[in-house]
Amino acid sequence: MSLIVVAAVAFCLAPCLVAAADTVSARRPLRGNDTVVSAQGKFEAGLFSPGSSGRFYLGIWYKNIPVHTVIWVGNRASPLSNATSAELRVSPDDGNLELVGFTADGSAAPGVVWSSNLSLSSPGSSNNTAEIRDNGNLVLLDGGNSSNVLWQSFDHPTDTLVPEAWLGEDKLTGVYQRMTSWRNAEDPAPGLFSNTIDTNGTSEFFYFWNGSRMYWRSGVWTGRVFALLPEAVNNVLFNQTYVETPAHRRLSWALYDNATITRQVMDNTGQAKQYIWVPASQSWQFFWAAPTVQCDVYAVCGALGVCDQRSQPSCRCPPGLEPASENDWRLSDWTGGCRRSSPLVCARNGSTTDGFQALTNVKLPDDPLALDHAKSKAECESACLNNCSCQAYTFSDGGGCAVWHGEFRNLQQLYADSTASGSELHLRLSESGLRDLSRGSKKKGGVEWPVVLGIVLACVAALVASALLAWVLLSRRRRRLRNMANEKGSSLAVYSYGDLRAATKNFSERLGGGGFGSVYRGVLKDGEGNSTEVAVKKLEGLRQGDKQFRAEVNTLGRIQHVNLVRLLGFCSSGDDKLLLVYEYMPNGSLEGYLFKAGSSCPSWRDRYGIMLGVARGLAYLHDGCRERIIHCDVKPENILLDKDLCAKIADFGMAKLVGRDFSRALTTMRGTVGYLAPEWISGLPISAKADVYSFGMVLFELISGRRNADLQGEGAGQSSSSGAAGGEEEEDSNGGSDADAGRRVLMFFPVWAAGKVAEGEVGAVADPRLRGDVSEEQLERACRTACWCIQDQEEHRPTMAQVVQALEGVIPVHMPPMPRALQNLVNNPLPLCGMPLLFMQGCSKAVVM
Ligand SMILES: *[C@@H]1O[C@H](CO)[C@@H](O)[C@H](O)[C@H]1NC(C)=O
Ligand SMILES: *[C@@H]1O[C@H](CO)[C@@H](O)[C@H](O)[C@H]1NC(C)=O
Ligand SMILES: *[C@@H]1O[C@H](CO)[C@@H](O)[C@H](O)[C@H]1NC(C)=O
Ligand SMILES: *[C@@H]1O[C@H](CO)[C@@H](O)[C@H](O)[C@H]1NC(C)=O
Ligand SMILES: *[C@@H]1O[C@H](CO)[C@@H](O)[C@H](O)[C@H]1NC(C)=O
Ligand SMILES: *[C@@H]1O[C@H](CO)[C@@H](O)[C@H](O)[C@H]1NC(C)=O
Ligand SMILES: *[C@@H]1O[C@H](CO)[C@@H](O)[C@H](O)[C@H]1NC(C)=O
Ligand SMILES: *[C@@H]1O[C@H](CO)[C@@H](O)[C@H](O)[C@H]1NC(C)=O
Ligand SMILES: *[C@@H]1O[C@H](CO)[C@@H](O)[C@H](O)[C@H]1NC(C)=O
Ligand SMILES: *[C@@H]1O[C@H](CO)[C@@H](O)[C@H](O)[C@H]1NC(C)=O
Ligand SMILES: *[C@@H]1O[C@H](CO)[C@@H](O)[C@H](O)[C@H]1NC(C)=O
Repeated sequence: MSLIVVAAVAFCLAPCLVAAADTVSARRPLRGNDTVVSAQGKFEAGLFSPGSSGRFYLGIWYKNIPVHTVIWVGNRASPLSNATSAELRVSPDDGNLELVGFTADGSAAPGVVWSSNLSLSSPGSSNNTAEIRDNGNLVLLDGGNSSNVLWQSFDHPTDTLVPEAWLGEDKLTGVYQRMTSWRNAEDPAPGLFSNTIDTNGTSEFFYFWNGSRMYWRSGVWTGRVFALLPEAVNNVLFNQTYVETPAHRRLSWALYDNATITRQVMDNTGQAKQYIWVPASQSWQFFWAAPTVQCDVYAVCGALGVCDQRSQPSCRCPPGLEPASENDWRLSDWTGGCRRSSPLVCARNGSTTDGFQALTNVKLPDDPLALDHAKSKAECESACLNNCSCQAYTFSDGGGCAVWHGEFRNLQQLYADSTASGSELHLRLSESGLRDLSRGSKKKGGVEWPVVLGIVLACVAALVASALLAWVLLSRRRRRLRNMANEKGSSLAVYSYGDLRAATKNFSERLGGGGFGSVYRGVLKDGEGNSTEVAVKKLEGLRQGDKQFRAEVNTLGRIQHVNLVRLLGFCSSGDDKLLLVYEYMPNGSLEGYLFKAGSSCPSWRDRYGIMLGVARGLAYLHDGCRERIIHCDVKPENILLDKDLCAKIADFGMAKLVGRDFSRALTTMRGTVGYLAPEWISGLPISAKADVYSFGMVLFELISGRRNADLQGEGAGQSSSSGAAGGEEEEDSNGGSDADAGRRVLMFFPVWAAGKVAEGEVGAVADPRLRGDVSEEQLERACRTACWCIQDQEEHRPTMAQVVQALEGVIPVHMPPMPRALQNLVNNPLPLCGMPLLFMQGCSKAVVM
């Protein structure tokens, strides 16, 4: 026994010693799977192999989170074929940090695939060492003087910017720091999208497609923000600045609390995105993206592709075309675009059998070629047909004829309710391509003469059969309903998928959607001919056994309160057919009622009634049920109003139903992060006090009548309502808004309001639309309560039961202290009011002192 232990230790000794090293030097290289770890264990550097690629790269990743997330890659474009013979070392010759191994292109001998590439000649060079720091910076230190940093990975970012890293220009060396996307999730080679600071010397950042075509700009640094990217700076999580010195000009950022884990990344779909690690869900949460809308990225769907903002994924090929590389598309790399399923047939003398397929309600591709001589649709079409390189044309009475030669890009699908007006594009396809298309559609809906008779006969038979079937099903359902009603305490109806599909007219009238799926309006008819309006929620991405689902839903069904939306029934047939049926709320959500442009101003009385209603509903969830239910997602979108403006909370119990995936759904919408309590980010356990926090945020919004984080100034109402229309994926286009965005300022209401409350000036915080028509006493109660609710430490926040009493006037509400997270900002030398901020969270450990 002991022999074996000794043997194991001996066997392990050599590699273990190397693996435990925290520096790399000429005498101690990293071999194979060895890694170096930063002093506090935050980052790790070594070789990794993305996906199933079988290629190996030098990289840096987070050591202290379970999701392998690479922030830097050395040999992006020259991978190793295996890790066995690989070595990261300080070159004994010149002191550079270098990676040696077999390249993936099958060279016979190992060679240097990556190097820090410095011209070093100082005598101590071979004594240089490399180490990984706790901010994720891999540094090469001078052997003669270890406080001399010779080379650092922060000077050469790949696609990710972590706090304390920078982007910009090193004026001494002329080297630019830019983010360049990975080609796809499994290939870190430089992709098509990058950003870089203006090479002409201004402080503006540009996003480029293929290094040349600019598709987004940050606006210049105003001293506090980048004009067009206000949300990326100066929130309570981090501090972003732009500085110019004789040595460099750069953007950098720092966390207020270095326990927060967050990163910005240039996605391989061309959006720069920021994520925050949420320990509560052990997942990365989306924070913001630029450009906001996926389809605003130039050529994201490649040549001949169609970008569709409302579908997932955003890119598809037009009919008659297919992805140029199925494999790339599978990895969300659409930039290869589409190709025709069958090639065009076009002779040199111009004779062709090709035809056109119309794509309706689209935003036309970029760079059209106007043909002024074609005065009709027919002339335009023949002009296109007569030139073999012509791929598509469009004709309209106002705009005339335009054609596209070669590959076109940025074709976008629009919808009936889109703000931009759609056009018709006629896409050239070969004769056989068109034939395949029409055959395909005939298979679905087309009718040919000889089959008509058969179809008529079949229809008659089907009618008879379906009448019979309906009768059988109906009686079965009645029996089932009776069974359900008998089940102890539950009165939930069970519906078939077909019932609900019919009730919602094949899910045609979408009321809204959240992280768990979309909600549709429906009408259910019972046996007596009565019809009831319902809201049907189609749950998506739920992985749960049928039995467990039924049990959870039945628990939810038992929870009834005048301030909770009532669950009427459900459908559970197969994984992808989980539906919940709720009572229908004709007045929609509080979000629409309060913020939608054109809605009338709700009176103070109505608002106070809503505050009380929501408070009572939450108090019931927390303390009134057999099992405590934490809502976890309290926000105006989840507060519905019935015909008497009685507030009813929707979506409660989802956290339980959806389990761990829940918080992934929380922040799908830009801005809603602002309702999340600090403990979501800091990793403390989530309790009912997290709901209290979110409720406090909602209170502020009811008081002020606007979003806590809102765009001030012109167009503010419009921006907030389009952002709220149902999530990021819903926005059709930000077109045009960028031009005047320079004038917009973000302002975070609670900071300002908390200050006013502290000064005893509550009158100033009420919605100006109320023109002072408020109850001063209620306003003061509401303001103070809201401020207590958003205290950083949960034990300082009241319970919902106390909130109800406070709002009812049963107990006095003392003057609240200023929440510490907000204090961070107040201490900053920025003016309190009109401060550019968006998100309200992340105070975590620094605050819990
Ligand atoms: C690593 O790759 C080289 C070159 O392709 C090859 O000669 C060597 O056998 C490989 N080693 C292993 C363990 O696969
Ligand atoms: C490195 O790790 C991988 C996976 O854990 C393993 O398959 C491989 O053999 C290891 N290579 C070396 C050189 O230890
Ligand atoms: C190092 O320099 C050589 C020649 O100047 C160049 O070919 C190579 O790409 C450089 N390598 C890196 C990693 O920059
Ligand atoms: C490298 O370090 C060793 C030990 O500290 C020292 O003896 C040697 O002179 C150094 N070499 C150079 C070139 O400075
Ligand atoms: C984080 O902050 C603590 C306390 O301010 C400090 O001791 C520690 O070194 C910091 N860690 C990093 C990685 O900056
Ligand atoms: C080491 O380098 C730093 C920074 O370059 C310098 O301030 C310091 O004086 C140097 N120390 C020695 C011993 O040369
Ligand atoms: C830089 O300046 C030149 C000359 O004024 C101009 O042509 C070019 O477009 C500018 N580049 C950018 C990226 O603004
Ligand atoms: C990107 O630009 C290069 C030349 O600058 C060109 O050769 C290449 O085809 C372009 N890539 C795409 C996808 O158009
Ligand atoms: C925010 O950035 C400014 C400018 O770099 C700096 O002076 C200030 O100390 C930073 N604040 C914090 C809290 O890091
Ligand atoms: C064009 O060439 C094709 C064969 O290449 C021939 O069949 C056709 O008649 C020609 N058409 C004209 C108008 O010359
Ligand atoms: C087709 O159009 C291209 C681009 O306008 C032009 O260069 C070419 O000469 C045209 N070919 C014919 C046959 O008209």
